[in-house]
Amino acid sequence: MTDLRTGLGEAVGAAFADLGLPADLGRVTASDRPDLADFQSNGALAAAKRAGKNPREIAAAVAEVLKADPRLASVEIAGPGFINLKVADAALASRADEIAADPRAGGELVAVPRRVLVDYGGPNVAKPMHVGHLRSSIIGESIKRLYRFRGDVVVGDAHFGDWGYQMGLLIGAVTDETPAIAAEVARLNAAADLPADWQRLEPEAFQAIELADLDRLYPEAAAKGKADPAYRDRARKLTAELQAKKPGAYLLWRRFAKVTQAALERDFHALGVDFDLWKGESDVDHLIEPMVRELDEKGLLVEDQGARIVRVAREGDKRELPPLLVVSSEGSAMYGTTDLATILDRRQTFDPELVIYCVDQRQADHFEIVFRAAYLAGYATEGQLEHIGFGTMNGADGKPFKTREGGVLKLNDLIEMARSKARERLHEAGLGEDLPAEEFEDIAGKVAVAALKFADLQNFRGTSYVFDLDRFTSFEGKTGPYLLYQAVRVKSLLRKAEGEAAEPGPVTVTEPAERDLVLTLDAFDAALTEAYDKKAPNAVAEHAYRLAQSFSKFYAACPILIAEPPVRASRLTLARAVLRQLEQALDVLGIAVPDRM
Ligand code: ARG
Repeated sequence: MTDLRTGLGEAVGAAFADLGLPADLGRVTASDRPDLADFQSNGALAAAKRAGKNPREIAAAVAEVLKADPRLASVEIAGPGFINLKVADAALASRADEIAADPRAGGELVAVPRRVLVDYGGPNVAKPMHVGHLRSSIIGESIKRLYRFRGDVVVGDAHFGDWGYQMGLLIGAVTDETPAIAAEVARLNAAADLPADWQRLEPEAFQAIELADLDRLYPEAAAKGKADPAYRDRARKLTAELQAKKPGAYLLWRRFAKVTQAALERDFHALGVDFDLWKGESDVDHLIEPMVRELDEKGLLVEDQGARIVRVAREGDKRELPPLLVVSSEGSAMYGTTDLATILDRRQTFDPELVIYCVDQRQADHFEIVFRAAYLAGYATEGQLEHIGFGTMNGADGKPFKTREGGVLKLNDLIEMARSKARERLHEAGLGEDLPAEEFEDIAGKVAVAALKFADLQNFRGTSYVFDLDRFTSFEGKTGPYLLYQAVRVKSLLRKAEGEAAEPGPVTVTEPAERDLVLTLDAFDAALTEAYDKKAPNAVAEHAYRLAQSFSKFYAACPILIAEPPVRASRLTLARAVLRQLEQALDVLGIAVPDRM
């Protein structure tokens, strides 16, 4: 199935070819002047330039050929040689029937599906989340869904940050605070009689540690580590002990990771973000030693002031890229080391053809360094690893958003804040108030998520934007709640039709609002393709908004339930197609629609 734009592009291309001109000049785009035409081709201008001819003459010749195409109501030449195309009502109607019958709502599959891994979210044990993690989660989730919808085999991995220096800091802080835990760590470290599967033990003394303890202790420890070299050295030593799997340090760390992951999974789920894999940096620990050996054998490893590095600078680099730090002078694996080993791990377990790292733009150099090292080592081929960065979500002060209490962005707090605003908005609009309390809560949750996600995804990811919950949660304007409201409106219309036993039927197109709606429905695949190619979900967000607007105009101009049966049947089919496509587009954005409000 092809959309009108593609189908007409082929016809225009064939017309060019008929005249001995290159067929690829036939590309067709949506018209710049929707009042005059539906589509346009600018190919005659380029053709004329190449052949040294008059563009209007070429356009006229092409138009002559196209006039025979039954899909076109008119073909006109405008300005210096644009070819303006107006689609026949019957062609629009049959395209609408096609979309309405398509479970994919007009969204095509890629020709050759790939195995794609999306690395996103990237939360850390203990270290608080910041807006970078939030945006990564929202954008990454959408890219995962988009790629999956297009037919790729996609795995989303949180790449949990659980193996770095912050773990040493935390082990220090927790043992300092609670002597009983310190004693248990020491006992385990020294124990000679641990069972073979000791890594699965859950020592009693560690069970009292909760996420709140880590949240409380970490900021202090991090600050001390910055100020006090001795404290920092000890944290580094403890990190090395952990990485050497000393039982006390290791089992304490297991407790940290467990309580953190449980809380994060719950909070992410509330945001409609669900990872297929919760693999962490620690999961590739066993690969590091052989990897370091291999890097050495390949002659890539260089000694540098007690550390071991891989140089990745290339001739012609505009600025000097630092080397990849593989083993620190304390003997620890670093952030880049685990990333490199993770490339190996993924190759062994999933063998992705493409890995998309959806991480804060500020880590662009980090990824460039890791990728280059991976290419040098032969762990991936150029182009297989791709970092897609993004800007920040800022506060009113123009700096990265922080909660009122300062500093820490707790996902849970953010969602709660959005939820309470959503409740307020629903009350203001008189929505959902007659529904059972539990359902109202569910709706408020969906409105909150739609507000946060749509506000983020409607911008190109590279753009920074300002956090403004009042605006995000409004039911008017270009917002998530507006889209939910429109989708719910269609649902309730369709329920009503069902109640009146009004059946959908073949589409006929007569009114301008119907034409516009079908053309918008037809543009879905182009939006998906753009989003996919540019890894830019904002194209889908834009389409969802246009579709909702187009439906709204149609609904105002074209009575449905009170129309004559054949017209009513046609309009019900259109409404059904709109709902399916809108829900699909929102699903790609990670936004779920309630049944009613
Ligand atoms: N945990 C990291 C951080 O908080 C983000 C991880 C991103 N993914 C990766 N493969 N490095 O900065």
